[in-house]
Amino acid sequence: MNFRIIYNQTEDNIVVVGEFEEYKHEEQLMEFLNLLQKQNFYITFLEANIVPRNIVEKLFTLQEDGRCTIFVLERYLYSYLQNLGIKCKYTEAHWCFNKLENKLPNEKQTLNKEDVYIFLNELNNVYGYDYTDYQIDSISRRINVAMIKEGICDFALFKHKVLNNQKLFHNLFLDFSINTTEFFRDPEVFALIKNKILPYLDSYNHIKIWCAGCSTGKEVYSLAIMLEEAGMLGKTQIYATDLNPYVIEEGKNGMYSTGTLDKDINNYRNAQGEKSFIQYFDITKGYIKVKSELMKNILFFHHSLLSNGTLNEFNLILCRNVFIYFNDGLQEKILRNFYNSLDNNGFLVLGKSEGIQRNNGEKYFCKYDEKLKVYTRIYS
Ligand SMILES: C[S@@+](CC[C@H](N)C(=O)[O-])C[C@H]1O[C@@H](n2cnc3c(N)ncnc32)[C@H](O)[C@@H]1O
Repeated sequence: MNFRIIYNQTEDNIVVVGEFEEYKHEEQLMEFLNLLQKQNFYITFLEANIVPRNIVEKLFTLQEDGRCTIFVLERYLYSYLQNLGIKCKYTEAHWCFNKLENKLPNEKQTLNKEDVYIFLNELNNVYGYDYTDYQIDSISRRINVAMIKEGICDFALFKHKVLNNQKLFHNLFLDFSINTTEFFRDPEVFALIKNKILPYLDSYNHIKIWCAGCSTGKEVYSLAIMLEEAGMLGKTQIYATDLNPYVIEEGKNGMYSTGTLDKDINNYRNAQGEKSFIQYFDITKGYIKVKSELMKNILFFHHSLLSNGTLNEFNLILCRNVFIYFNDGLQEKILRNFYNSLDNNGFLVLGKSEGIQRNNGEKYFCKYDEKLKVYTRIYS
């Protein structure tokens, strides 16, 4: 579907059709911002899951002045805006969502693992997304949640609908993607990166880091802050990738709710941050926005760890809290890919509940700090 902005002057109604992308729709961006000079109006976003940073900022100020009412039809955009403190109305007819979500524990069904596996194969055949090597229990839980959100109790019916309706698959895809993240998550890992890994990497003229499964970017910006404080950000290129395209857009926007600020500051201190956490952000009433200096050397892009191609030659790869969703075979495949993507002396950092024992990872990596799940590539 083509992207369009429709303005109905008599009703003061602006409707945005399709996904709003900053670089593809530069002209429309200006047109849209011009329309927002008016006094009182309605904006409806049809089919957009995320909107560019300058629109989010504009919406925020318009709302503060009480000048517009925002409607959204996609639940991803709804939670993104709400999370940033922008009030909007969710208009999709998922009448049962809130009512049923509270009932989750009672409504939960035990899905047969083999049926789920067959369904995952069918999803791969129809939509080309392969979840067959994800942890089956975790995927089954997500399917359960999705069934409840759609108000469907029968798995066979749910399967049929998802396989025949791209929109339903899209919602399921978002339910499969668990994007929990924080600034300086597990601060002691960042302290080790700061005290041990960065001094080592500083001997290079140019440093390449891959943050795989980066979610909305908080981990990436935490790393950028550490590099900045070590005086190394200027010579570093960070590649930040994720399967979910919307978290990638959130990462590019670099806007986050102030709701977790106390925890963020605490984590930063525990990670031995040397300055003040908030100096890296522009702060408004509702949200914080990463300063542009910090964003310069970061490239966010959509990428699946299941794809075979390697990205190389990295000095450091972070892939934290992503392996927990994969079975051992897939973990091994990805570890092999990381091995091929790292330079000879490269480091790998996994999440604290992950490791290299059960997935043959010891073929590719040696322990550097087992407790913090930091590894070095076996020399070849
Ligand atoms: C729990 S978050 C972890 C975020 C961050 N690394 C951290 O530790 O704070 C897991 C992320 O992995 C991503 N993911 C899941 N499967 C993936 C795949 N096949 N390829 C790339 N990313 C994937 C999800 O979209 C999600 O954003």
